[in-house]
Amino acid sequence: MEKIEKLKSLINESNNIVFFGGAGVSTESGIPDFRSVDGLYNQKFEYQPEEILSHNFFFKHTDVYYKFHKTRLISYDAKPNDCHLGLAELERLGKLKAVITQNIDGLHQMAGSKNVVELHGSMLRNYCTKCKEFYSVDYIKQSEGIPTCTKCGSIIKPDIVLYGESLNQKSIQDAIRYISEAELLIIGGTSLVVYPAASLIEYFRGDNLVLINKGETPRDSLADLVIREPIGKVFKQVL
Ligand code: OAD
Repeated sequence: MEKIEKLKSLINESNNIVFFGGAGVSTESGIPDFRSVDGLYNQKFEYQPEEILSHNFFFKHTDVYYKFHKTRLISYDAKPNDCHLGLAELERLGKLKAVITQNIDGLHQMAGSKNVVELHGSMLRNYCTKCKEFYSVDYIKQSEGIPTCTKCGSIIKPDIVLYGESLNQKSIQDAIRYISEAELLIIGGTSLVVYPAASLIEYFRGDNLVLINKGETPRDSLADLVIREPIGKVFKQVL
């Protein structure tokens, strides 16, 4: 409770907050994370999920990739939880400058957040690998097997960053700018083990670093405040 009060006062005092988050932000919306015991990387599939989520695998076994994508990665019917909604409210109040996320589910925007840096892309955007025609997630869901372009017949690829692919340069630059200019950085729902995303927090030079995560992270010792509670529950109490 003391920690929640401390977080409340840090939020009240700052008009330059940045949030950096990962899969744990969406678990309370029913989307599994990657590394928890019930996370995607601990589920059985015909290949290891880490292998499936790679550039080479996508082009070599596109059918298996899409089976995984459609059954495990696309979040059907998920709705924003109190963390997504709370962050959107802080932005509306002019206190939060940006949400930087490793998630691909689009739930921050669904909650009303406007300034969202999607480091790993979004499953809501899909493009033809040849002519770059755009396709919605509904098109991907409804397609049988491998989704192909209605214009040129080529394979469609989700606009997400797979292992072996580079992050979008503009997203990295935006994230660095927001983090380096922030006064209060709240990090939540991320194991902070995937690079380069995890290294972005090294650009923070503000006053207070808050970590809200169920599990331990390699950066816990750097934080001014560590809260080990479900992040949606925390935001519900804070706002
Ligand atoms: P992880 O699954 O590695 O970490 C999620 C963290 O959130 C864990 O430390 C959990 O303890 C914590 N957590 C889960 N639910 C929570 C909740 N309700 N409240 C607070 N904490 C909670 O997910 P990420 O760190 O996002 O990349 O993983 C980073 C990247 O690894 C992903 O973007 C993805 C993956 O490979 C790609 O696919 C490129």
